[in-house]
Amino acid sequence: MSIGVFDSGVGGLTVLRALRRRLPARDFVYLGDTARLPYGTKSAASVVRYADQAAAALVGHGLECLVIACNTASAVALPVLRQRHAPLPVVGVVGPGAEAAAAASRSGRIAVIATEGTVRSGAYEAAIRRLRPDATVSSVACPLFVALAEEGWIEGEVVELAIRRYLGPLLDQALPPDVLLLGCTHFPVLAASIRRVVGTALAIVDSADTTAAAVARVLDGAGEVAGATGGLRLLATDDGPRFARVGSSFLGEPITPAAVEIVDLG
Ligand code: DGL
Repeated sequence: MSIGVFDSGVGGLTVLRALRRRLPARDFVYLGDTARLPYGTKSAASVVRYADQAAAALVGHGLECLVIACNTASAVALPVLRQRHAPLPVVGVVGPGAEAAAAASRSGRIAVIATEGTVRSGAYEAAIRRLRPDATVSSVACPLFVALAEEGWIEGEVVELAIRRYLGPLLDQALPPDVLLLGCTHFPVLAASIRRVVGTALAIVDSADTTAAAVARVLDGAGEVAGATGGLRLLATDDGPRFARVGSSFLGEPITPAAVEIVDLG
């Protein structure tokens, strides 16, 4: 039995990295739907359909847990996938991301940056307000960050200009937020550049570690083998060499093109 993890592309590898750190003895199978990336600019109906197909492909590998390591898909498809695959535990990244932001904020003023689809869904506002009814949540769609991260442009003039352009209005508010939640799996690789632009007054959080903690809670230590190292299968729907090249920086370890299996989701 494996833990299945999927994203629209390589971004979810930041979540996989945290999962493997937290649960090193587990076997993982990761699917990046690179043929259909980005999900963030698509309609909710399309994202639900894509997520449904990705989940079905992973479930075929025999899972003990399914992780939706894509904010856009978590925002719109979590209830459908939970219902479809019950009693398989299905964990999304929005709840854990909201948890990280709510815990880190003193003022309750929280900024969320995400894709257009995630912002439109209102899923983060709802999840944060469930935990902190006093919270003021400002959400900003930053679709260009996905393209920059995919290109490996994670620092430099162009990146900082884009960050300033998207985040300037947030920072200039009379009562600025004290937490910036990276509500998109592609954004953690830009964290150092974001930090340079926003300064130190703002805590920058993402959902990777809290998602890993949520999965560990769900599995409750079952099948844990101390000292063992679990396996990893990497699947993509398009262009294995690109997945390997770009994905290595997201996973934090080298991926060889031969390690990426191409699958067709139909
Ligand atoms: N994985 C998506 C997310 O976390 C970002 C990339 C995309 O738009 O597909 O929302």
